[in-house]
Amino acid sequence: MKKIDVSVIAGDGIGKEVMPEALKVLETVADVHGGLSFSFKHYPWSCDYYIEHNEMMPEDGLDQLQESDAVFLSAVGDPNLVPDHISLWGLLVKIRREFEQVINIRPAKQMKGIQSPLVHPNDFDLMVVRENSEGEYSEAGGRIHRGEDELAIQNAIFTRKGIERAVEYGFQLAQSRRGHVTSATKSNGIVHSMPFWDSVFESVAEKYPDVKTASNHIDALASFFVTRPQEFDVIVASNLFGDILTDVGAAIMGSIGIAPAANINMNGKYPSMFEPVHGSAPDIYGKGIANPIGQIWTGKMMLDHFGEHELGNTLLQVIEEVLQDGIKTPDIGGTSSTTEVSDAIVTRLKALK
Ligand code: NAD
Ligand code: IPM
Ligand code: MN
Repeated sequence: MKKIDVSVIAGDGIGKEVMPEALKVLETVADVHGGLSFSFKHYPWSCDYYIEHNEMMPEDGLDQLQESDAVFLSAVGDPNLVPDHISLWGLLVKIRREFEQVINIRPAKQMKGIQSPLVHPNDFDLMVVRENSEGEYSEAGGRIHRGEDELAIQNAIFTRKGIERAVEYGFQLAQSRRGHVTSATKSNGIVHSMPFWDSVFESVAEKYPDVKTASNHIDALASFFVTRPQEFDVIVASNLFGDILTDVGAAIMGSIGIAPAANINMNGKYPSMFEPVHGSAPDIYGKGIANPIGQIWTGKMMLDHFGEHELGNTLLQVIEEVLQDGIKTPDIGGTSSTTEVSDAIVTRLKALK
């Protein structure tokens, strides 16, 4: 029996609603497989936890997570309770950084059973590889109080090593896909770090003569995601560019509520973390209508990570079947609840046994 130990952090807002549904689905998946089992260990770390303990996770929190094979997280942030910069740096970004999850992979593809908002939806199937440890999200900066001259500084820090490993990941991924990598850039030099990004991209590209490349300014690229997403295979992007692009990728699929993601540790020293693209959605929290598919599809990425590709593909197929049955939450035009969607997925999975 293959056993996967998973640390579960439901976090805030709709995280608390979609997480139990995704776990239910993963348990069913393991049952259908027969030779696989999950052990879930729950951690209450969230903004509620902060109110009680004055910290987002205990001091030895990372040591506790280190015991597991993977972290499965939903969403962090409740701006009504705790300022975002405290909750995010104290939990989500802390795990990404300390566990050296330097690559963030985020697929977007046209799903069966969902109406894309694009006027002319063509089949698209792309993967954004986002640099996840540095760039515009550097810790170097701050707010300086100088009376009327108050200001804030944010330094973007790009290292050759950081760019190289993200771009390398993109090229290797492209070799197993359709052999094309696009670099998200701003090489007109307006952003000083981007000519450096470009030169590292070009030097990595030389090692992969079998992979075709393109380079687009981030502003144009965001618009191409809307007008011709079918032309993209793998896109490599810096931390902030990748963040923004993947919300566009989610939108052209139909909703941010279905978009999955994985934060990958590449050196094997720490667990990777699986976490959907969406946040805690305070505007719909408590209504029972959050789309659970982002979290469930993120579970599929966790299955892939542990080599269970066939099972992962079966899960994705079942998700599409349920969507085609019209069992959908309101964000994608349906009237079903969070639980009705996950229950339908569980029922279809059980029928496979
Ligand atoms: P958000 O993703 O929470 O919400 C944006 C919009 O998408 C909202 O209208 C919301 O209702 C909708 N939405 C999101 N997920 C949905 C789902 N599963 N089903 C249906 N609709 C869904 O982004 P935001 O409003 O900018 O941020 C809210 C909070 O979440 C903030 O504190 C933010 O910092 C945090 N956040 C956390 C993460 C994370 O933990 N990975 C990611 C993004 C935002
Ligand atoms: C995401 C989120 C995070 C990010 C925030 C909450 C720090 O937007 O995972 O996409 O910008 O990385
Ligand atoms: Mn984001």
